[in-house]
Amino acid sequence: MQEQLTFVATCMFGLERFVGEEIDALGYERISTIDGRVTFRGDMSAIARCNMWLRCAERLYISMGTFPAFTFTELFDGVKKLPWERWIGPDDAFPVKGHSIKSQLFSIPDCQSIVKKAIVERLSAEYGISWFKEDCVKYQIDFFILENEATLMIDTSGTPLHKRGYRPAAGAAPLRETLAAAMVKVARPREDVLLWDPFCGSGTIPLEAALLMTNTAPGMNRSFAAEEFFDIPAEVWTKAREEAHDLQKLDTRFEAFASDIDRDMVRMAQDNVVRAGMQKYVKTFQHDALNIRADGRRGTIVCNPPYGERLMTPEEVAVLYRKMGKHFASLAPWQVYIISSDENFEEHYGRRADKVRKLYNGMIRCGYYQYFKNDTRRQSEDHRSHSDSFRKDDNFHKYKKDFQNQRPGHFRKPEDKPDRKD
Ligand SMILES: C[S@@+](CC[C@H](N)C(=O)[O-])C[C@H]1O[C@@H](n2cnc3c(N)ncnc32)[C@H](O)[C@@H]1O
Repeated sequence: MQEQLTFVATCMFGLERFVGEEIDALGYERISTIDGRVTFRGDMSAIARCNMWLRCAERLYISMGTFPAFTFTELFDGVKKLPWERWIGPDDAFPVKGHSIKSQLFSIPDCQSIVKKAIVERLSAEYGISWFKEDCVKYQIDFFILENEATLMIDTSGTPLHKRGYRPAAGAAPLRETLAAAMVKVARPREDVLLWDPFCGSGTIPLEAALLMTNTAPGMNRSFAAEEFFDIPAEVWTKAREEAHDLQKLDTRFEAFASDIDRDMVRMAQDNVVRAGMQKYVKTFQHDALNIRADGRRGTIVCNPPYGERLMTPEEVAVLYRKMGKHFASLAPWQVYIISSDENFEEHYGRRADKVRKLYNGMIRCGYYQYFKNDTRRQSEDHRSHSDSFRKDDNFHKYKKDFQNQRPGHFRKPEDKPDRKD
């Protein structure tokens, strides 16, 4: 029996279900899920396979252990008991960072130095040295203290997993790749249905759709921190890459359109498509979204139009959404999936969504508006009943309250800030 390890996959809020399903599909055993993190068990192969295949996760950690930590002494003793020498050698680097939520230990710098000191003491005793050069492999240690329970982890991803490698350049308001992947999954793309993002920016949504539909492992062309880890045999990585190549399905007829009104964006999207090797599946061109035509094809729109936060003013956005609502209805029975942070989106769009899912685009709270019964008869009925039926007391407002209350897991790590520049 192979050694079983405990892992934590972190993700943006709202994507836990997708990450959990991806872990199941890879054959590992889920243990628990809280906001922004899924804990599971697996053997050494999970380090390579999950880093390579998880489309919706931000990072994969090896969990070293969890214990109660109400005081610095408990934190120190708990950390010192963990078998750090299992991974970290005498010359390796082990920087520490972390977070604390709803806990007595709230000073991050103090926790950081306690954790570091405890690991140093443990390794000093193991290796018989008192000075650590820390100039070999880097093992990034992360602590996470939630309601006085500390979890100590080693980051295996390094660069976050949303960075697939195809998007060195992004537009002014790019979607994170992991969120785009989840949006695409919700829209259930099909080989015989055109997927069109008419506000494509750097092309993230159509690209993630093409990666999904070709069963391309999103991380197959990038490297991970744990590739340097001494204790992971090279064949674990070789096998995972071979598997990723074997499972790629390049013979699909799937097609996606990526269009944008801005010529520079279209150029950027095209460069990204080529970099991802997806030019057979994604066509990029300049076009006004308010002018797209079905041309007798079956299609699904998945898009991230301007929100009025980073691009356009709220007034301009309201006008744009109204025109979108009218025009996209004319494409019926095409399904339409739109992410927006505008709380009045449905009002502007002129129609109540069949379903709304809460999602975050970085720090921006969004609704994912799903119109899968896009028929024109309903459109006119909805227009009539709109003022009464608009979501005054439905789930969306409950979600809003949850977000505002910042429940335990509802915090975001610094690297999750939306103003990230790729
Ligand atoms: C929020 S950005 C999309 C970002 C994209 N999802 C990404 O990941 O890079 C919105 C895009 O809509 C485009 N846009 C605005 N009005 C448009 C219109 N009428 N037709 C087509 N594109 C439009 C902008 O040029 C911008 O690139």
